[in-house]
Amino acid sequence: MTDLSSIQNQKLRQWVEQNAALCKPDKIHWCDGSQAEYDALCADMVKTGTFTKLDETKRPNSYFCSSDPADVARVEDRTFICSARKEDAGPTNNWVDPTEMKAILHKLFDGSMRGRTMYVIPFSMGPIGSPIAQYGVELTDSPYVVVNMRIMTRIGTPVLDALNRGADFVPCIHSVGAPLAPGQKDVPWPCNKDNKYIVHFPEEREIWSFGSGYGGNALLGKKCFALRIASVMARDQGWLAEHMLILGVESPEGEKTYVAGAFPSACGKTNLAMLVPPKALKGWKITTVGDDIAWLKIGPDGTLRAINPETGFFGVAPGTSMDSNPNALKTLSRNSIFTNVAMTPDGDVWWEDLTQEPPASLIDWQRQPWTPGCGRKAAHPNGRFTAPAHQCPCIDPEWENPEGVPISAFIFGARRSTTAPLVVQAFNWEHGVYMAATMGSEMTAAAAGGAGQVRRDPFAMLPFIGYHMGDYFAHWLNIGRRLPVTPAIFTVNWFRKDESGKFIWPGFGENMRVLQWIVNRARNKAPAVESPIGWMPRYTDLEWQGLETFSADQFEKIMAVDRDVWEKELMLHEELFLKLSDRLPRELPLLRELTMERLNRIAQTPWVPPRG
Ligand code: OXD
Ligand code: MN
Repeated sequence: MTDLSSIQNQKLRQWVEQNAALCKPDKIHWCDGSQAEYDALCADMVKTGTFTKLDETKRPNSYFCSSDPADVARVEDRTFICSARKEDAGPTNNWVDPTEMKAILHKLFDGSMRGRTMYVIPFSMGPIGSPIAQYGVELTDSPYVVVNMRIMTRIGTPVLDALNRGADFVPCIHSVGAPLAPGQKDVPWPCNKDNKYIVHFPEEREIWSFGSGYGGNALLGKKCFALRIASVMARDQGWLAEHMLILGVESPEGEKTYVAGAFPSACGKTNLAMLVPPKALKGWKITTVGDDIAWLKIGPDGTLRAINPETGFFGVAPGTSMDSNPNALKTLSRNSIFTNVAMTPDGDVWWEDLTQEPPASLIDWQRQPWTPGCGRKAAHPNGRFTAPAHQCPCIDPEWENPEGVPISAFIFGARRSTTAPLVVQAFNWEHGVYMAATMGSEMTAAAAGGAGQVRRDPFAMLPFIGYHMGDYFAHWLNIGRRLPVTPAIFTVNWFRKDESGKFIWPGFGENMRVLQWIVNRARNKAPAVESPIGWMPRYTDLEWQGLETFSADQFEKIMAVDRDVWEKELMLHEELFLKLSDRLPRELPLLRELTMERLNRIAQTPWVPPRG
């Protein structure tokens, strides 16, 4: 156990001292990140009822956990970007004056850890010592957070050593906001039902999170640091912090192309990151670098190099099956934590769609008895697995390369039952930025606002950008200007529906056919035709072996560009641009106008790629 006097990093020592005085925990525990520490914390949580150990033969070294029903997801309306000036947070973020917010937080954190242990978690986002990585330290009163952070990031002694050698860090403070009076019995999932605050101070690069123990609200390395705070660091320092998966595509000739892809939450990012190509596409292989976040820097050779700052997957469990994502299932076969899924009578886990037939009885995500037909879901729709990335069967051999992997293409995807074609390539970098900036996605039933409604989600960063969205677009344009060769930019849409509401494109592994065209385009090896909204493949430009039943007519349905529909779409782009007008780069409205002109000039609507 570390004692405070041995901490040579002054900023760290003072910060821990100050916050211990504020939060008044019973104890301070410096995390070394060891397996023994992890095992001991898990064993303690089994004793307190937070964790249930799963069957050792079925799911070795793994645990089931059920959260308070009032604490099941990120809370966007309680998430704040407290920059000194409101204009700098921009119209897409909640803002409170930082002095006012500090006063609120000091009151909330005063005594918030009474009766609990304050854990100090030194962590690194990215391989320790990588030129792209950054350090953080999280103070938390939740042992659940400690064990999840150990899977999701690099924590403990090696990081503390780096800090003691003088490295800087982002201070992250977290409390579940449920102090215990002397003798008060704890609950399995402490949280604060009345007050939740997920707060970022971009200038000071500080994170304060109060009241929730769940996911992105509490594992502060993920959305809070690696996206909201890191996006500000990236703007200031000339790099990119993005809500993107990173995958490698290997051709039968053994050529490797790395691609980064941004998709809003609930669009199948983990599935795409771990895609299994159809057998008919012999010799094509996908490898995974990351499934959620990418940090990208321009390397000494002028290429854009990307790392996955995380070391684990915090994936949505429901819908994950041997059909949809066999690699994810193999990844979470051991050493994993399952939150808000269901438990089988023999000590394993289950969730909707894991098997076609549900088991005859289960313990549901709220630890209640469950039977098929009882009218409730067994797992919460946002139930999660936390699983180590190195266990993924298709993990890329370069996934921990401190220099990152070279990115040749960006993909921006969204969920649209109409309008957006299966795949489109931008005419150039600026046009790609325009396409990513105007991305819109249909919300699922779980999101506020209602199913089917399209929400603009620029770069899939709407809930994650730490500053003004208009400035963020300008930053992307600037990065393009600094790159000797810009990666190709694409949009994809797997979700177009027919008149009866059925998905037209089979998706999942078949998305490989689109990836194949994308990497060949990035290498100037595939043909394309010019459409009013970008470059597109013709039917014959994609590989159909093994999917011959997908006809040219069906292809036309998912590629068609309808003038009336697109004119409406462009009105929505204008709506977004008006909202951001005080900081919007001039290029973007010009590109919108150009698109409008191109659409006006098409000979017939809908436009479809020529056959043959
Ligand atoms: C996530 C999200 O959990 O984007 O990754 O919401
Ligand atoms: Mn995400």
